[in-house]
Amino acid sequence: MHSNFQAIASGLVVILATGVLGASEDPCTEISNSYARESSSQKRVHVPAQLAVDCLTSMPFDSEKGVSFIDEYSKYLEFQSDLELLANPPPSSLSNRVDLRAGLQSIRSYASRGLYSNQFHFDSDLMDLINSANDGHLLITPCSSTAFTFMASDLVLVSISVDGVSSPQVYTQHDAKLLAAGLNDISPVTYINGVGAAALIEYQSRFQRLQDPDARYNMMLSNLPYNGQGVSNSEPFAAETVWRETSSYYLTFANQSSQSYDVLAVVTAPGGFSYKSGSDLFEGLCGTTTSPTTSPSGTPSTSASASAPAVPSSTSTPPPTTYPTPVMREEHNLVVGYYPDEPGLEDVAVLSVPTFETADATGLDALAPFAEIAQYFVGNATLDGKKRIIVDVQNNGGGVVDSGFALFSVFFPNETLYSATRFRAHDALDFMGTIFNGINPDNVSETIQEGLSSSGLVVQLMDNPNQESTFGNWNDFFGPYDADGIPSTSLVAEFNFGVEANPSTNPINTDGLGGDLNSMTPPFAPEDIIVLTDGRCSSTCTIFTDHMISKGVKTVAMGGRPSSNPMQAIGGIKGSQVEVLSNIDTGSQLAVSLLNGSITAGTPLLTTENMTRFEKVMPIPLENFPLPLAAGDRNSINYRNTYTKTDETTPTQFVYELATCHLFYTAQTLVNPAVTWAQAANATWGSGSCVGGIQAGNSIGSQSFDDNVSSNSENDSVSSPGTHTALGLLLALGSGMD
Ligand SMILES: *[C@@H]1O[C@H](CO)[C@@H](O)[C@H](O)[C@H]1NC(C)=O
Ligand SMILES: *[C@@H]1O[C@H](CO)[C@@H](O)[C@H](O)[C@H]1NC(C)=O
Ligand SMILES: *[C@@H]1O[C@H](CO)[C@@H](O)[C@H](O)[C@H]1NC(C)=O
Ligand SMILES: *[C@@H]1O[C@H](CO)[C@@H](O)[C@H](O)[C@H]1NC(C)=O
Ligand SMILES: *[C@@H]1O[C@H](CO)[C@@H](O)[C@H](O)[C@H]1NC(C)=O
Ligand SMILES: *[C@@H]1O[C@H](CO)[C@@H](O)[C@H](O)[C@H]1NC(C)=O
Ligand SMILES: *[C@@H]1O[C@H](CO)[C@@H](O)[C@H](O)[C@H]1NC(C)=O
Ligand SMILES: *[C@@H]1O[C@H](CO)[C@@H](O)[C@H](O)[C@H]1NC(C)=O
Ligand SMILES: *[C@@H]1O[C@H](CO)[C@@H](O)[C@H](O)[C@H]1NC(C)=O
Repeated sequence: MHSNFQAIASGLVVILATGVLGASEDPCTEISNSYARESSSQKRVHVPAQLAVDCLTSMPFDSEKGVSFIDEYSKYLEFQSDLELLANPPPSSLSNRVDLRAGLQSIRSYASRGLYSNQFHFDSDLMDLINSANDGHLLITPCSSTAFTFMASDLVLVSISVDGVSSPQVYTQHDAKLLAAGLNDISPVTYINGVGAAALIEYQSRFQRLQDPDARYNMMLSNLPYNGQGVSNSEPFAAETVWRETSSYYLTFANQSSQSYDVLAVVTAPGGFSYKSGSDLFEGLCGTTTSPTTSPSGTPSTSASASAPAVPSSTSTPPPTTYPTPVMREEHNLVVGYYPDEPGLEDVAVLSVPTFETADATGLDALAPFAEIAQYFVGNATLDGKKRIIVDVQNNGGGVVDSGFALFSVFFPNETLYSATRFRAHDALDFMGTIFNGINPDNVSETIQEGLSSSGLVVQLMDNPNQESTFGNWNDFFGPYDADGIPSTSLVAEFNFGVEANPSTNPINTDGLGGDLNSMTPPFAPEDIIVLTDGRCSSTCTIFTDHMISKGVKTVAMGGRPSSNPMQAIGGIKGSQVEVLSNIDTGSQLAVSLLNGSITAGTPLLTTENMTRFEKVMPIPLENFPLPLAAGDRNSINYRNTYTKTDETTPTQFVYELATCHLFYTAQTLVNPAVTWAQAANATWGSGSCVGGIQAGNSIGSQSFDDNVSSNSENDSVSSPGTHTALGLLLALGSGMD
């Protein structure tokens, strides 16, 4: 089924592509001339997609460097928490089956056999492989991928239903807003490039870094024109750095009219574009002497963030556009409280939480105001007679884990905070732990002590999920223990809440001890709380939401693929820590230098035999990579899996978990977010209905969902590297192009 889409899409492409060939000037020179002309006057310089592709594919490829790059990158990938389960997911999970290590070996073998003709195809295969894990914490940004982003820049799509429950249809956002304004001569999009619109969107969403197919579908659309922070959210369709061989999208509407949208390549090369040829571009972006590979990381070690959500600046921002007037808000709209006056919401308060990114590298430090304003709003809402509350976390990509726990503690102040994580247990982690725990911490500099504690691998600083310190030594902790096929460490708490929380700077409430977070009893009964998502809830958002669900709150999931099925509320990575590769680099180099010091001192921390293995498995510095990765923390892995009290072996991202209620967006919800809240309230507490009916109780793991649209046995990332051009051409021939 999928290859048919590809055939049709790429068939169109080949026709368009041949029209552009034959230009006499070097395509890169042409781009650099455009850039020189336009960069001063235009914020975003773009060029025809095919021209960018011609330039990218004229880059050389050095097989030897490619092979050695894979070998070095593979050492970093060992830190990814769930490699074994990704390759062999449990039947209830909707995750793709993807063996990342086998996939890398496959790309390596293509490289070593000289089957890549340019760097761009190699990099594209790498991105497709890594992104096919659909994990928001797992990200690779190879050198050539920073040059351009392809997008149909004028095409913004939405998916709306007439009543929130009937199957939705695809519209352009422009048309949907006309519909909302009462215009009638508006048609849904029936086909895109000759393929059913919904089917094409779902197919195009397959590399989005969200685990749930409905969440991925939402990612392709702009059903939330403004996010909860008031930032415009109207993403162009199909923005990607991998070229999908589609030069334009041809939309056919139900009334038989049609419209075509060109795909453009936006120049995103760091430092602009002045490259005159493919080799020039290679030298500039992929030469080992130029591009810096690491940047100082300001990410707090507890931060877990799936993507780069709109980063609030450290200055105040205005209240969110199109939303009702807030009752109370944090000055960057990190939390905003509303008393909407929509019918049906008279006794319902709404707390919008668009992000948990309460601290960042720009100096934002809003852990305390975030938690306190949530507390004040909830406290005042109960005094003001509100009986129920909706916590709106639509498109919340996560952030600081502490803030997730803080918000949970606002709602359940008298509960013990439970946090259970595991690292993947592999040799490099074992060596780091052995060395970090083998030295005398009193005998090293303060800088080294800080490095050790931020590694998260010092046994003395670890607690088990019950917040008790129980690990005698590194080996007790490391194991390895088998957890659903993943060699794993013991369960360990993300941190000790007693040490981590601070009543004034980082308040988290346990039994009234959170400073201004001082309630002793829950402000609302669990059944009077809805957590509202659009599936795009990742990282800290998943920790918060899963904790809320464990206490019996209801969830409503918005949007998703057209169907009459229920939907998952949490569609993003449920891992509890993202780790940028530059931090793994720092940890590895610390291990190297401490080991070296111990050898010099005559008290080596590893046996000779282990030192040989150490040399082999430890990640080398990123700056020594044969091909650089992009700067700026755009390369990361999921470092820790998260587990629940009831299942200590299956990482939560592999647990299928239905929302209490599934609803679709409507034309009205596009222009007024309060309509979404009213719909969710009516379906949960009133007489409204849900797509697929109300799901009873806590459905964690209770469903074996035989998904009719997506397959979880997809395997193409392992079996077809290097096929970007080849596959497209083959299918074009197969579909009868002349
Ligand atoms: C057909 O539908 C399209 C898309 O909504 C719209 O732009 C166009 O005006 C419609 N044509 C007629 C004749 O109604
Ligand atoms: C109500 O909000 C104010 C801040 O506007 C805060 O000082 C007060 O403590 C809140 N009341 C409750 C009960 O939370
Ligand atoms: C917390 O308070 C609620 C409501 O009073 C109660 O139902 C629940 O059992 C309490 N939880 C604990 C752990 O005491
Ligand atoms: C070091 O080698 C010994 C066997 O010689 C092995 O038991 C031990 O696990 C190794 N340590 C590490 C950290 O790999
Ligand atoms: C601490 O460092 C000193 C000086 O380098 C060394 O003599 C001593 O053995 C070290 N002690 C420990 C416990 O490592
Ligand atoms: C290891 O220690 C030796 C001797 O102190 C030093 O010359 C060398 O630079 C060190 N190497 C590393 C990688 O730290
Ligand atoms: C709730 O939904 C029912 C059924 O669709 C509808 O009749 C009713 O008007 C809705 N109530 C509100 C307050 O919107
Ligand atoms: C899958 O499709 C079949 C046939 O159309 C239908 O009977 C079944 O309920 C569907 N399963 C799900 C989970 O939607
Ligand atoms: C996955 O691909 C491998 C290599 O091509 C093949 O041997 C295997 O049968 C495939 N597995 C599935 C489930 O398709």
